[in-house]
Amino acid sequence: MSTTPSDIKATLSFSDGTPAIDLPVYKGSIGPDVVDIRALYGKTGKFTYDPGFMSTASCNSSITYIDGDKGELLYRGYPIEQLAVQCDFLETCYLLLNGELPNAGQKTEFVNLVTRHTMVHEQMQQFFRGFRRDAHPMAVLVGSVGALSAFYHDSLDINDAHHREVSAIRLIAKLPTLVAMAYKYSIGQPFVYPRNDLSYTANFMRMMFAVPAEDYKSNDVMVRALDRIFILHADHEQNASTSTVRLSGSSGANPFACIAAGIACLWGPAHGGANEAALNMLFDIQRQGGAERIGEFITRVKDKNSDVKLMGFGHRVYKNYDPRAKLMRETCHEVLSELGLHDDPLFKLAMALEKIALEDDYFVKRKLYPNVDFYSGIVQRALGIPVSLFTGIFALARTVGWIAQWNEMISDPEQKIGRPRQLFVGSARRDVPPLAARK
Ligand code: CMC
Repeated sequence: MSTTPSDIKATLSFSDGTPAIDLPVYKGSIGPDVVDIRALYGKTGKFTYDPGFMSTASCNSSITYIDGDKGELLYRGYPIEQLAVQCDFLETCYLLLNGELPNAGQKTEFVNLVTRHTMVHEQMQQFFRGFRRDAHPMAVLVGSVGALSAFYHDSLDINDAHHREVSAIRLIAKLPTLVAMAYKYSIGQPFVYPRNDLSYTANFMRMMFAVPAEDYKSNDVMVRALDRIFILHADHEQNASTSTVRLSGSSGANPFACIAAGIACLWGPAHGGANEAALNMLFDIQRQGGAERIGEFITRVKDKNSDVKLMGFGHRVYKNYDPRAKLMRETCHEVLSELGLHDDPLFKLAMALEKIALEDDYFVKRKLYPNVDFYSGIVQRALGIPVSLFTGIFALARTVGWIAQWNEMISDPEQKIGRPRQLFVGSARRDVPPLAARK
C-alpha cells in the first residue's frame, strides 16, 4: 500500500524570511493524519527535529493499529480481546503475515508448514556450545538468530518473494527451538528435539521442560496461557525493536540479521526487558518487607533524583489501560487458580502496588497505567519459566510481527534506505593545530 494525498494541505511559514510552503496531508483509514515533509529539505534547506519520534510516522502500514487514548489494539482490524479468546497463536501469525485469518484448510496447511520447520541445523548445537553456560539467554538469541543466516543460504534473497516466505516460516518455527535450547544449555541439560504431533506452544513447553529420563505432560490451562502471551506480544506497530528491524532491513540486510537486530533492541529494560525488570522489582520489594514497603518504594519512584521507575508501568502510546495488561491480568488469575496459588504473595504484592499507583496523583497526572509486562512475568514464573528467559519469550512471540513488518517494508514501492539527519551542535570547521601547539 502507498500513501494517497487528501485535499487538505498544511502550510508551514517561517519567521526568518524563508518562503512558506504547502505540505500534503494524508489520511489513514483510522488514526491521526500525517503531514508529508519529504520535500521540506529540498524546498527550504531545513530538517524536522523529533528525537524519540514523538510526532513521526516512519512508514505507512496496514498491519497493527493502536489507539493509545482508548486503549485499543487491533491486528489487521481485529481487536486483541477477540483474537486472544477466539484464536490461537499460529492463526494470529497467519493473520499478521497474510492480512486475513485462515480458513480451516489454510490453517491446517500453515500449521503443517511451521511444524515441519521447527528443527534447527544439527551444527547449531556446536555453535551453542561456544557460549558460556551463564550467558544471558538474550545474548545467546542475538547470536544464534543472527547465525541462522550462516546456515540457511537458500532463503536469503530478499528480492525473491518465495525466499522471504521461507525465511518467515523458518524464523517463526525455529525461535521456540532456539529459546528452549538457550534455556537447556544454561541449566546443563541436553537439548530436546521438537515433536510434530504437538501444538506450537505445547511443543515449546516440552522442549523446555522434558528430559531424556522423563517426558513432559503439558497442562491445557498452562499451554493456553502461554499461547495467549504469544498472541498478546505478536506485534505492536512501530515500536523500538520493530523500527530497528525495518531500519536494518532498509539497507537490504537478510531477514535473520534483521531479526537479530530486533532482538538486541528488545533486550533493553525500557522495552522487552521490562518483564524481567518488573519481576525483579517485585522480588526486591518483597525482600525488603513486602506490601508494607510499597509506600516507601513509590516515594523513590516519584523522586526525580532517584532514577527508580515503576517497571511494567507507563507506555509511549497507551495513555489509558494497556488492553494487553487487562487480558494478562485475567490469565494470571486463571493460571494461579489452576496451580492452587491464589495466595501467591508476589501476585498479591503486584495487585497492591497497582492499586496504590493507580490512585496516586503522580501516576494519574502522567496517565501511567500498568502495561503488559506488569503481569506477564508473574504468569511466566508460575509456568516455570525462569526470569532471565522472559524477554526471550517476548522475542519468540514478536518474531512474527517483525517479519510481517519487514516483509511489508520490502514490498512497499516507497521503501528507501532509512537515513535520518541531525541538528549538528558540535564545532564548526577548524584546522588541526601542530602537536606542540595543542593545550
Ligand atoms: N515510573 C515512574 N515514572 C514514569 C514511568 C514509570 N514506569 N514511566 C514514565 N514515567 C514518568 C516520566 O518520568 C515522565 O515524568 P515527567 O513528565 O515528570 O518528566 C513522564 O512519566 C513521561 O514519561 P516518559 O519517560 O517521557 O515517557 P516515554 O514515552 O518516553 O517512555 C516508557 C515510555 C515505557 C519507556 C516508560 O514509561 C518506562 O520506562 N516504563 C517502565 C518500563 C516499562 O515498563 N517498559 C515496557 C513498555 S510495554 C512493553 C513494550 O512494548 O516493550
